[in-house]
Amino acid sequence: MHDSIDLRSDTVTRPTPGMRAAMAAAEVGDDVYGDDPTVNRLQAVAAERFGFPSALYFATGTQSNLAALMAHCGRGDEFLVGQQAHTYKYEQGGAAVLGSIQPQPLENEPDGGIAIERIAQAIKPDDLHFARTRLLALENTIGGRVLNPAYLRSVTQFVHARGLSTHLDGARLFNAVVKLGIDEPAAVAGFDSVSVCLSKGLGAPAGSVLLGSRELIAAARRWRKALGGGLRQVGILAAAGLYALEHHVRRLAEDHDHAERLAAGLRAIGLAAEPPQTNMLFVDIPDDQVAALGAHLAQRGILASISPRTRLVTHLDVSREGIETTVRAFREFPGWSL
Ligand SMILES: Cc1ncc(COP(=O)(O)O)c(C=O)c1O
Repeated sequence: MHDSIDLRSDTVTRPTPGMRAAMAAAEVGDDVYGDDPTVNRLQAVAAERFGFPSALYFATGTQSNLAALMAHCGRGDEFLVGQQAHTYKYEQGGAAVLGSIQPQPLENEPDGGIAIERIAQAIKPDDLHFARTRLLALENTIGGRVLNPAYLRSVTQFVHARGLSTHLDGARLFNAVVKLGIDEPAAVAGFDSVSVCLSKGLGAPAGSVLLGSRELIAAARRWRKALGGGLRQVGILAAAGLYALEHHVRRLAEDHDHAERLAAGLRAIGLAAEPPQTNMLFVDIPDDQVAALGAHLAQRGILASISPRTRLVTHLDVSREGIETTVRAFREFPGWSL
């Protein structure tokens, strides 16, 4: 539905005319041979922008995260990860299934981080009964929350001192960068690898970039091939990523503003909407109204995954007017007894 207001995720964006023009004009080559100039340029631009020696293009964030975990950890190694992390909860356990890497899930704090004391307790001693704890994986933003830079500094220093490496799932890292008003290298300080998605709020149709040292990226490139991720003339997609990096980063502030306006509008109706930090907001919907509200919104062309804890996501394809239409539709839902 092209004219709908789609608040299910920021993955639903469609390439803009400018992005499509950049894609159509992309120079391409066989990227498995390293011959695609547009992919090479995207990788160089991303590495430079984040201050990493090397970068690698992936079709998806799931594949980028998995190749990174496999580059950091070998068979029988362990990574520490939040219970709520995408790499643990929403990627089918790929690290264990395909990488023979044991996850050690740890409770996320309400702010999205993992307490350093909890991490300290989870690092296994060097003993043949235990898997070798090799890596801490964090996510930023996580559920729309921005991790505190001071926490990130402390936690990465702490685990490095204990001999672990660090990986960041930065699917929505640019939302954190824009929210905090910091530059990209500051946002990734302390991480040995970072996966950044181009296909979420940045609006590219596909693609993620993994950042790391030359050695780590070389290892990830090997795993990418094994995972079926060696793409050929993929400069067509990389061109969309380059366009997004150039044109769609600063505008994320609009999405954050829209999320705040939406939350305020829903609160004015009497709904419990959490204050959003970036482009996601969570609102409680009474159990007995979930189905009817979903149908009511759909009838008005508003797509939302309504559940008792509904997540609404703003993005490039949701305008200020779309936010106002959405608030109006919520207000006019006949089922409320608020
Ligand atoms: C936090 C986070 N990490 C990773 C991914 C995986 O990205 P992809 O859908 O491109 O595999 C997602 C996807 O929604 C995500 O939200």
